[in-house]
Amino acid sequence: MKALLISQDSLLFAELASQGAARVPPLNVANSRVSMREALDRPLGEAPGLVLVDATEGAPDDADLLERLARQYPEAQFMLLTSQHQPEFLIRAMRAGVREVLQLPLVHRAFHEAMDRIASAAGVAQLREGKVLAFIACKGGSGATFISTNFGYALATLAEKKVLLIDLHGQFGDAALYVSDQKPAMTLSDVCEQIARIDGPFLDSCLVHVTRGFGVLAAADDPSQAKAAKPEHIDAILRVARQHYDYIVLDVGRQIDAVSLRALDSTDTIYPVLQLALPDIRDARRLLDIFRSLGYPLETIRLIVNRYEKGGRLRLPDLHAALGCEVVHTVPNDYVAVTDSVNQGVPVLELSRASAAARSLADLVELVTARRAPETRGLLDRLFGRGEADY
Ligand SMILES: Nc1ncnc2c1ncn2[C@@H]1O[C@H](COP(=O)(O)OP(=O)(O)OP(=O)(O)O)[C@@H](O)[C@H]1O
Ligand SMILES: [Mg+2]
Repeated sequence: MKALLISQDSLLFAELASQGAARVPPLNVANSRVSMREALDRPLGEAPGLVLVDATEGAPDDADLLERLARQYPEAQFMLLTSQHQPEFLIRAMRAGVREVLQLPLVHRAFHEAMDRIASAAGVAQLREGKVLAFIACKGGSGATFISTNFGYALATLAEKKVLLIDLHGQFGDAALYVSDQKPAMTLSDVCEQIARIDGPFLDSCLVHVTRGFGVLAAADDPSQAKAAKPEHIDAILRVARQHYDYIVLDVGRQIDAVSLRALDSTDTIYPVLQLALPDIRDARRLLDIFRSLGYPLETIRLIVNRYEKGGRLRLPDLHAALGCEVVHTVPNDYVAVTDSVNQGVPVLELSRASAAARSLADLVELVTARRAPETRGLLDRLFGRGEADY
């Protein structure tokens, strides 16, 4: 955060600059003005995040000047530094939006506590309310990893969302390899082992960054390490992730264990992935029975049929009848484009943008972000394009 200091006291400037530089993240006291009048006359090109006003001198028009300054930098937080109590001035300062008043000479602890309050207020204002979407394979090889990773990439690039994919495979997690050639430096189990450090920047530092808006938290590559993950860790990671990402995509794999269950408990929408074949349908029914017994509402479960080919013996209405659950999307069988993408570790949207698989993923992005109005939405919602639906 950049700060502007208004003070005649060069020693105070040096003191605040060094205290600010020592903070994590640093407070950069980048500019100074000797008086509020000078600050008004010489506004900064880039508005500061924080304005520190030394009001020790106490001129009669201070309150007016402060009000004008607050209007000049409406987004900035204001901190007042003063060695005397001037109740009337303080009341007007508070009305002008001053959040913190500190005594001079500066008590460093009080300064850092005030900065913590300002930083957390600024952080709260920027918090996101991310949605958790889980992709779960009804049968081994259904395509859950291909779809979840490539969908995450498509969501970040086409809809410009901030997306985190978490690979929850307890064994043989390979999600990062589907979209990147980078070797993960950190994995889910490393994050769990250091769970006390969890916050937005720490989580971000553990990701394989596929693009600026899309990161993957890889699964442990050693099954013995995977044991480090406990259900309560997943709660903490998802809580932080929701605050820092628009969408959290989970590649759940096939296993239902304590960790994946806890993740599914706080999932907004579950997408079981299956192919149109009897063994897949049998396994899908078992999975849906488990979800029902866990009390997951049916409307949060949306089937995706992968490798779909029109004209097959089994049709989508048969599937609906057999499972009692809606198929929201189909991904076509696109052997060449998908195999090339998976083998090269490059998202299909980047490698073969015009392919049927890439177009289908773009459609899924539209559906999830409700940029395409699905038939089931009410007329008013469609007319006014209300909100983002959980499709
Ligand atoms: N739409 C598609 N068209 C053609 N091939 C596909 C398609 N989707 C997936 N595949 C192929 O199927 C293989 C298995 O896909 P994927 O690894 O995503 O399945 P999975 O459900 O994650 O399996 P696992 O149970 O191993 O986790 C991939 O190697 C990919 O080449
Ligand atoms: Mg998989």
